[in-house]
Amino acid sequence: MRRTIVAGNWKMNASKESVDELILGILSGMNEVSSEVVVCPSFPYLSQVEDLIADSQVKLGAQNLNTNSSGAFTGEVSANMIKEFGVGHVIVGHSERRSFYGETNALVAEKVKTALDNNLTPLLCVGESLEQREAGETEAVVAEQINAVIELVGVGAFSNIIIAYEPVWAIGTGKTASPEQAQAAHLFIRTLLGESNENIAQNTHILYGGSMNAANANELITCADIDGGLIGGASLKAEDFLQICKAG
Ligand code: PGA
Repeated sequence: MRRTIVAGNWKMNASKESVDELILGILSGMNEVSSEVVVCPSFPYLSQVEDLIADSQVKLGAQNLNTNSSGAFTGEVSANMIKEFGVGHVIVGHSERRSFYGETNALVAEKVKTALDNNLTPLLCVGESLEQREAGETEAVVAEQINAVIELVGVGAFSNIIIAYEPVWAIGTGKTASPEQAQAAHLFIRTLLGESNENIAQNTHILYGGSMNAANANELITCADIDGGLIGGASLKAEDFLQICKAG
């Protein structure tokens, strides 16, 4: 049985002051939330958030990791480092990393493997650009992104992987995929996993991401194959984020 998972991707936003306000706001409404909730701040705020959520059911995630465990990789952060701050989840292959920092399907698969090897749950992001959707390539693109991971870690590893389907054209644009479009993509992903292992397919959590907000969360999360959300902009306001956490 899949539960609802809502993860906040804060991206490169926040300050010491706003982190306090945001987390305290979220915590004040958590008694009405039954979903699993994860917040993913930038690295400098992991320790602050770890302390603030210590006695709550809110979980901590990071936004990226390097595949190496230590060494001469200026500006990078390893799995061991984020684990020291109570991180249990890590976003991997977000479209912003794929497009701005050249992360390939092969590198994303390596990052998924690194996360799994370190007992971290990867939040594996996949999704097509507008150009690809208009060219009818959505399924081929998403299949390629997921197959790269299956080839490296095997389909069985998906029992410890959360997938986030995030159409690039819907991220930060206010242009959400319709529930029909999102459901179709999620069903495609589940069917793809099912070709290798039906049990894994039925138990894998597939979140939707891309302009999900307090107003549209419910109609998306109640779709049969949508198991929650990966939230960017709306995760920066406690009230909106809580509303999404209560959806479904
Ligand atoms: P958005 O971002 O909710 O601001 O569209 C989602 C994401 O990039 O994970």
